[in-house]
Amino acid sequence: MEINSILVTGATGFIGAHIVDALLARGLRVRGATRSPAKGAAMLKARPQYADRLEFVQIDDFEKPGGLADAVRGVDGIIHTASLFTYDTTNNETELIIPAINGVKAVFEAAASATNPVAIKRIVLTSSFASVIDVARNAQTPLAPYFTYTGSDWNPLSYEEAAAPTTSAVVAYRGSKKFAERAAWEFITEKKPAFDLVALCPPMTFGPVVHPVDSVEKLNESNAMLWKVASGEALPVARVPFWIDVRDLAEAHVNALLKEEVGGKRYTPTAPERFSYGLAADIIKGEFEGLKGKVSGESQDVDESYGLDGGSAGRELAFQYRGFRETVRDLVQQALEMQRVEKAGAAI
Ligand SMILES: NC(=O)c1ccc[n+]([C@@H]2O[C@H](COP(=O)([O-])OP(=O)(O)OC[C@H]3O[C@@H](n4cnc5c(N)ncnc54)[C@H](OP(=O)(O)O)[C@@H]3O)[C@@H](O)[C@H]2O)c1
Repeated sequence: MEINSILVTGATGFIGAHIVDALLARGLRVRGATRSPAKGAAMLKARPQYADRLEFVQIDDFEKPGGLADAVRGVDGIIHTASLFTYDTTNNETELIIPAINGVKAVFEAAASATNPVAIKRIVLTSSFASVIDVARNAQTPLAPYFTYTGSDWNPLSYEEAAAPTTSAVVAYRGSKKFAERAAWEFITEKKPAFDLVALCPPMTFGPVVHPVDSVEKLNESNAMLWKVASGEALPVARVPFWIDVRDLAEAHVNALLKEEVGGKRYTPTAPERFSYGLAADIIKGEFEGLKGKVSGESQDVDESYGLDGGSAGRELAFQYRGFRETVRDLVQQALEMQRVEKAGAAI
């Protein structure tokens, strides 16, 4: 499909910045949306070779969306990846769920109202495995028969359950992704805009960072878990055994945008190999001599009780999955270097 100029929301985030780079590598024009001109400037500064094809626009927080009419002006494709991914909340509904839904509605409404010379043809939405998984089904005792989730499955969580004040931020995040994605599909069915939608529902996403990160302690939520393992903290327990490398996920987004035949589809891109933080610990000890004595020796089973279909995304979106060793090694190597630079800076 002929798409040349793409708006990427969340372009300064962990996944969004990789998508920006993957689009630029294909020769496309990219406009990143951010609430923070400083982060946009940092992204530009790190990519001087793309000064003629990369720009940033400022948008408002999704608590009260604004700036999107300008952001969509002149683009013919959108990748909407911005959302709130944090478990550090005091009010789940107002801090996680409502802004995620607001963000989708505002982006889709701006896209449908745009009077661009070339029409917007497609929106690719970064949803999550959180909007697919049925946690109650997985917790059934005796264990439910082996089951493989696909892009046809939906998390059955109700809005009331997700937004209840007693609900944990983890559950509320699952609700934020489900109800934001639902809003996107409903927009397509009800408003019948000129563009179509492809939704990607990845599980835990790990890998090296290409977005502005002030310090190793400020890594994004998913990579921070791997850094905890490398730092010798007690091993976290993986909520799901599925993961994808951020570079593979970025390729999946770009192909989801450009491949005409995948319009209207929903995918669950996930690497064939499963993970646990115990496996990450073993890899780190094997790859980094200096961390051998530091990283936990605890062993952890990898959850094999249910599956997730990554084959459909790999085949139809035409990308290869990296192995967990490469992903863990590349992230930890980068984080150690960030830490070394920080310590050297502090010593001056
Ligand atoms: N990381 C994972 O393991 C994972 C797994 C599955 C799905 N996902 C999904 O992938 C997407 C990106 O995740 P990520 O890990 O890259 O997160 P991230 O690093 O936190 O980036 C998200 C970006 O969204 C923007 N954003 C956050 N809150 C916002 C708000 N209230 N209003 C407007 N913009 C806001 C921010 O951009 P500015 O600060 O520049 O405005 C931020 O850079 C999210 O939709 C997330 O749910 C992530």
